[in-house]
Amino acid sequence: MNTELIKLTVTDGEEKYVKAAELLRESQVVGIPTETVYGLAGNAYSPEAVKRIFEAKGRPQDNPLIVHISEFSEIFDLVSEVPETAKKLANEFWPGPLTMILPKSDKVPLCVTGGLPTVAVRCPSHPIARTLIKISGLPLAAPSANLSGKPSPTKAEHVYKDLKGRVPMIIDGGECDEGVESTVITLAAEKPRLLRPGNITLSQLKSVLGEVEVDDAVLNPLKAGEKVSSPGMKYKHYSPDASISLVRGDYKDFCDFVNEHNDGETYAMVFSGEGEGVEIPFITYGVDRNYRELSHALFDSLRYLDEIGAKRCFVRCPDESNDDNLAVLNRLLRAAGFKVIDV
Ligand code: TXA
Ligand code: MG
Repeated sequence: MNTELIKLTVTDGEEKYVKAAELLRESQVVGIPTETVYGLAGNAYSPEAVKRIFEAKGRPQDNPLIVHISEFSEIFDLVSEVPETAKKLANEFWPGPLTMILPKSDKVPLCVTGGLPTVAVRCPSHPIARTLIKISGLPLAAPSANLSGKPSPTKAEHVYKDLKGRVPMIIDGGECDEGVESTVITLAAEKPRLLRPGNITLSQLKSVLGEVEVDDAVLNPLKAGEKVSSPGMKYKHYSPDASISLVRGDYKDFCDFVNEHNDGETYAMVFSGEGEGVEIPFITYGVDRNYRELSHALFDSLRYLDEIGAKRCFVRCPDESNDDNLAVLNRLLRAAGFKVIDV
């Protein structure tokens, strides 16, 4: 399949969206920018489109997709009830990087939800994503547009690298602002529970809802036989080819540790401004204490490790006592397969 890569800017008129909208109406899939990461979009009401999404990504069938809408009112088509908590959250954080899980309506096919009775809904803020939803007139099911298991794409070139020849079109809308996927919260459980941290932080959620539980799987590996709240938690994630380890400890000890691995294939990933005292090759990923900068750079840095042929990488661990770092910690722990080294 030929993959068309088209550039769109926020000032482009609706005529530039016609072809993408047509593809979506024909149950084809299109790579699209959102404010979090690039998504691989298809008509959420079309089992054929959904099948194509799973095939293009090589994604396990039981891992459900997020459905994207352009206005809050469109949620009523997708879910069977809209609790007060959902209205409050939408009021505060939509459009934006927050996904809510709610009981699904009959209109949503089970192939979208991986067979679950609930559906994940998000209203993105990215103007290109919103315009495409409006012009196509469809709710768009869209997982991150990476090959299953790889770090999520934050630039169109990442999508192209993973999905070239597997999808008919990728829209290049520039680099994603956030860099990590949306915060996922379930409102279908007894109490609101955070399933995947993102840049709508736990404290922001608490400021609207009061109490919010944090699912065990956010920071811990699954125990054998444990039931998951979100099927995505089961799978290996965000993994570059390089083997990642998170390293906990102060900077001096970090340097001493990594310097023992001066083999030409091992890299260090440190915070911006650091590097002095590191005797192996290193890259940076944003300033410590600035979760937005860290999350913005994280996946691009993980992908860069593959580009430079790194075999192994030791990553400076962000401050675990700060809940704002949950998203970056969660992604790094999964990229590392929960390998954490204390120095
Ligand atoms: O920012 C994002 O959320 C991006 C952009 C494209 O919008 N999308 C994204 O989709 O990250 P994906 O498919 O890569 O991750 C969706 C996550 C998965 O972990 C999945 O298991 C979970 O949401 N999920 C989806 N529907 C669910 C449901 N009904 N119940 C529990 N978890 C669900
Ligand atoms: Mg994903």
